[in-house]
Amino acid sequence: MSLLAATGIVGGYGAADEILKGAALAVADGELVAIIGPNGAGKSTLLKAIAGLLRLKAGQILLDGADVTGLSARSRARTGIAFVPQEANIFPTMSVRENLEMGGFLASKAAVAAGIAAQFERFPMLAEKRRAAARTLSGGQRQTLAMAMALMVAPRLLLLDEPSAGLSPKAADLLFETIVAVHQAGTAIAMVEQNAREALAIADRGVVLVDGRVAHVGPARAMADDPDIGRLFLGGN
Ligand SMILES: Nc1ncnc2c1ncn2[C@@H]1O[C@H](COP(=O)(O)OP(=O)(O)O)[C@@H](O)[C@H]1O
Ligand SMILES: [Mg+2]
Repeated sequence: MSLLAATGIVGGYGAADEILKGAALAVADGELVAIIGPNGAGKSTLLKAIAGLLRLKAGQILLDGADVTGLSARSRARTGIAFVPQEANIFPTMSVRENLEMGGFLASKAAVAAGIAAQFERFPMLAEKRRAAARTLSGGQRQTLAMAMALMVAPRLLLLDEPSAGLSPKAADLLFETIVAVHQAGTAIAMVEQNAREALAIADRGVVLVDGRVAHVGPARAMADDPDIGRLFLGGN
């Protein structure tokens, strides 16, 4: 059984309420799924739908078999779904440590202390910078902080929206290594990426979203080697 099974998702914004036109997403326990596709396809909207930040017209979202479709974003976070949006995912004027405390706002005081210790162990860079204001971090360090904030509640499913956006190739590589480490530690991840080739290189499975629908799904390796997908989404053959 899938950890996440989202099916027939229809929803959008205001009058444009069918941005997603029956999209689906499955993530198995411990799996890393890369969601790729053209700009405006609805990739971010799909992550918002799963996080509980979008009003749905239709569809069902199951987490470990339990229907969470009707739950608020906060309740979904409590069930183990953590969402790192593409932008505004840290508090710039707060210190690294305070950001982690914010990430743990759903947790008890003791759990927050343990969570911060765990994140500092996992990401030594954050421990070194614990007192620095988050705005002083590099782009890659900010994305790492955003991910660590989400991991404060030990989620079962981590949703990442374009974690490598705006990073230099070198910083992006480092961040992908960090994502691989989080994946290898057992967290299931669904990651939207513009950097499709790199995303497929670290993912177990790929999903191509086009115009609010799943156009293709399969093993990431096979997808990276698929000439049609290469031509359309990976920048050449
Ligand atoms: N907050 C919003 N209000 C209205 N329309 C939006 C909003 N966010 C996204 N859209 C529209 O929804 C469509 C899908 O956007 P998005 O999910 O961000 O695509 P992607 O992440 O695949 O680039 C686009 O046409 C976009 O203009
Ligand atoms: Mg997007």
